[in-house]
Amino acid sequence: MARDLSVQIGSLTLKNPIIAASGCFGYGLEYAGSLDVSALGGVASKGLFLKEREGHPPPRIVETPSGMLNAIGLQGIGVHRYVAEKLPELRRLGVTNIVNICGTTLDEYCEVARVLSDHEGVAALELNISCPNIKEGGIQFGCSLTGTYDVVSAVRKVTTLPIIPKLTPNVTDVASFARASEEGGADAVSLVNTFLAMAIDVETRTPKLSNMLGGLSGPAIRPIAVRMVYECHQAVKLPIIGMGGIQSATDVIEFLIAGASAVQVGTANFVDPFIWTKLTDGLADYMDRHGIGRVSEITGSLRKNT
Ligand SMILES: Cc1cc2nc3c(=O)[nH]c(=O)nc-3n(C[C@H](O)[C@H](O)[C@H](O)COP(=O)(O)O)c2cc1C
Repeated sequence: MARDLSVQIGSLTLKNPIIAASGCFGYGLEYAGSLDVSALGGVASKGLFLKEREGHPPPRIVETPSGMLNAIGLQGIGVHRYVAEKLPELRRLGVTNIVNICGTTLDEYCEVARVLSDHEGVAALELNISCPNIKEGGIQFGCSLTGTYDVVSAVRKVTTLPIIPKLTPNVTDVASFARASEEGGADAVSLVNTFLAMAIDVETRTPKLSNMLGGLSGPAIRPIAVRMVYECHQAVKLPIIGMGGIQSATDVIEFLIAGASAVQVGTANFVDPFIWTKLTDGLADYMDRHGIGRVSEITGSLRKNT
């Protein structure tokens, strides 16, 4: 039986549903020497502001049980250097670039979106309204329903590129944020960003991260992320890109069944940078075993317990 791994996220077609998550795969070129980056469903770039940012001083990563805590602070090269130094080569390689954009104000989100819309090679914009470890912007918008609506609808007015707000899990009712995104004109939502968390060195009684607080990712968060994807799938018609602790094809399929149309993989790439073909091969094998022709048949296919 012919089997097709491609998926549709609004007007965007991905060759498979497995995307490298923002902040965990650089801008994509860093891996081009050892992987065929164009074979991925997409690459979500490191978050980009208008200008370069240094991020927080080290230590900014801590290992935790079944996960990691980070407070990078959105270090990045800024949108102008991205379009000048990274995008031409990414385009030449045929990479599907989902550019993760940030702002401290609505105007900044719009300006970053405008710059990217003027260049070929950008497949979609992922709006980072959910970074838990910067003081200004980001999560301030993503933790408020009006803030979420305002960012999405403002960016909607300045670009025809697909826009994908990335939702924070640090709220009580994530589905209401998916609804606010839908009302604002989003093409899809992605979730989850990291969970606000903390680790303490008991000998020195100091925080393990220079920023004190950070974002928890990795397998520890997966069941909560799956639950949130399920809730959003019940609440909106938008396609959902699910993530949080994926480290095997089984995990990918779990997110799809919960309601995701595609997934992103972040922390697992630090453990195994060659995970990508294992995930697509495992998904293809599952589809063959279950007589499934298209990935979309798996999306939201959860059955009730009998
Ligand atoms: C080191 C690190 C940096 C990250 N940077 C970003 C970022 O720039 N923008 C963003 O939207 N998410 C960022 N994230 C969040 C991830 O994209 C992802 O949402 C989260 O880690 C959950 O997926 P995972 O458990 O597969 O890592 C970062 C995560 C990590 C671990």
